[in-house]
Order: sequence, then structure tokens, then C-alpha cells
Amino acid sequence: MCENKLNIAVIGCSTMGKLHMQGVINKGANLYAICDTAEEPLEALKKEFNVSLAVKDYRELVNLPELNAAVIVTPDKLHLEMTEAFLRAGKDVLCEKPMALTVEECEYMMRVEQETGKKLMIGQVCRCTPAFVMAKEMIDAGRIGDLIFVESEYAHNYTRARGADDWRVDPDRHGVIGGGCHAIDLLRWIAGDPTEVYAHANHKSLLDWPVDDTTIAIYKFPNDVMGKVFVSIGCKRNYTMRSVFYGTKGTIICDNTSPTITLFEEVEGDHKSYTKPQELPVEVNNHNITAEIDAFVSALQGEIDLPVTSMEGASTVAVCCATVESAKVHQPVRIRYPEL
Ligand SMILES: NC(=O)c1ccc[n+]([C@@H]2O[C@H](COP(=O)([O-])OP(=O)(O)OC[C@H]3O[C@@H](n4cnc5c(N)ncnc54)[C@H](O)[C@@H]3O)[C@@H](O)[C@H]2O)c1
Repeated sequence: MCENKLNIAVIGCSTMGKLHMQGVINKGANLYAICDTAEEPLEALKKEFNVSLAVKDYRELVNLPELNAAVIVTPDKLHLEMTEAFLRAGKDVLCEKPMALTVEECEYMMRVEQETGKKLMIGQVCRCTPAFVMAKEMIDAGRIGDLIFVESEYAHNYTRARGADDWRVDPDRHGVIGGGCHAIDLLRWIAGDPTEVYAHANHKSLLDWPVDDTTIAIYKFPNDVMGKVFVSIGCKRNYTMRSVFYGTKGTIICDNTSPTITLFEEVEGDHKSYTKPQELPVEVNNHNITAEIDAFVSALQGEIDLPVTSMEGASTVAVCCATVESAKVHQPVRIRYPEL
């Protein structure tokens, strides 16, 4: 092993965990250790990636002096405990989304990050999805003018996606926080921090789950931009994040699984006619974890700033929690953003 390679541990050996391990290897860092409480995936990935250190208890890794960083890909409720343990031991951390399930937990994690001086990045992977990256670049370049209305959806069927030991089936793990955070984070990334949300929810698909399965929410974004998010964890269709960005000069329609994005641009000087929609080719890479790990390691090496800071991850959780609250109280809710 090359001496300047970072030693990284990945905690959690699911399909997502495996993508993170592959990302570490693709970046040229050292997959130093892996961990899972379940024997079978642990052994399988130990063999597949030829990792010498594979443990069932993450605490065995925390104080290893050679370890530089940990990537946490475990059920949401474990994020705080594991992140804190690694940060306090002097390791940098990439933690999967959602950062945690409440704003208070996120604030605690941010304080630990500040106290330890280590780096904490949150895995909001939609910021690496090629179609969304392309849409944001066009919006930032003014291609569709000023934003008017932004919308995104997280449409998923969780019937068979209950997680190991059914961890997703949890009254504290609302679909808006657990999965809808992708759509909410995408809109925050594109349009800034909304100030207020008004949401409605129902519960008609996953009747054996303890949470509403479908939510619709309207947001007030800065600069008088309006937004809408639809979250379903019980819809009968393939996973999609169809998103539309309407501007004063054009419109972009995109999602996370299509090989093109659609751009409508106004014809210069003629407000009555519009160009035909252009289909712009884009790489399909819904879980672009390789790009996420690439950015994390580059940030640890001082080449770039952390692309998704703990404040960003925490702010997305804040919007998610306010959305759930609004649907519960049937009132608009002002969003309380995290404070350090
Ligand atoms: N970025 C994305 O698009 C995306 C997609 C799926 C999941 N996730 C996130 O990744 C995390 C894991 O989700 P998943 O789909 O991989 O779940 P999963 O249930 O498929 O896998 C979780 C793994 O963690 C292991 N585990 C549980 N407790 C553990 C512990 N104490 N120590 C070590 N390992 C433990 C389980 O045995 C299991 O192998 C969640 O936070 C989820 O929100 C993100």
C-alpha cells in the first residue's frame, strides 16, 4: 500500500455499502476495513474486495491509529452514535443521508464536528446525479432565466424495501425524512432554503407501516420562488425522482433514471413561440457514489471544500421535519433551521 493513501473503513455491508466500498477503491484510497453485524454480507464483501480487516462491532475500528476516515452506511438511527464515535477518535466521516432523524440530533452532530475539528460530510447523493448536476449547471448559467417554480418527487415502493430487520418500518423514520430528503435536498441545492411549508399526507398503500406513505408539500423559497415536493413510499411504479424547473426563459424536465433531460428554451425576441424541446443526453447514474466518495476524499486531501457539509445535511433534515409537522398539524409551518 502506498503511504499517502487514505485508510478508509466502510460500516454497513448492504448493496449501498458495497457501492461505497467500490467508490473508495475507484478513488485509489485504501479500503482498510469493513464492518457489519451480519456475518453473511460481511464475509462476502471481505472476500470480494480482499479486505484484511472485517469486524462485526464498529467500536473495534474507532481507535485504530492507521484509520483516517469512516463511511457510515447503516440504518439512520445509528448515524449519530457512529458519527460521534469516529469523530471523537479523530477520524473524518462521510455519513449517509438522512444525517439524523431530528434537527436536535443534527445540531449535536455538528457540535461534535466543531469540537473535534474533524470533517463531517453527508451523503446527499442527488448532488452527484449527472442529470441533476447538468440541470443545476444550466440554471446557474442563466439558461432558463430566473426561477419561478421548482418541483421534485421521490416516488418509491417500499413494500419490499423494509431494510435489514425491518429498520425502515419505524414511526420515527417518516418517508419524507428517510427518502423524501433526496427531493427536498435537490430543491434546496437548486433554489436555496425555503422559509415555510404547507403539507398534506395520507396513508393508503403501506397499511402495515406506522407512518403516512404519501405526502405533498408546497414551499416558499427565497426570491419569491415557489416549490412543490411529492413523496410516496408506497406507489406502484419504479423508483423515480422526476423534477421540473420552471424559469422566466425556459424549463428543464429531468429525473434520476433517464438517458436524456428535456430543455425548453424561449426563442430569442419572440415571446409567442418556443423551440421544440431539446433532448440532451446524460449519463444514467442514479447512485453516483463513486463521485460522492471522490469528492469526500478530495476534500480530506485539501483539494476542494466539503461539497455537502453537516450544515447542509442538517438543513435538509430541518425542511423534512417541518414538512412532516405541517402535515400533522394541518397548518403552514415556518422552518426552523439548525444552529450551532
Ligand atoms: N443515498 C442513497 O440513495 C441511499 C439509498 C439507500 C440507502 N441509503 C441510506 O444508507 C443507509 C443504509 O441503508 P441500506 O439500504 O443500506 O440498509 P440495509 O438494511 O439494506 O443495510 C443496512 C446494513 O447495516 C447493517 N447494520 C445494522 N446495524 C449495524 C451495526 N450496529 N453495525 C454494523 N452494521 C450494521 C445491517 O446488517 C445491514 O447489512 C441508510 O441511512 C439509508 O438511508 C441511502
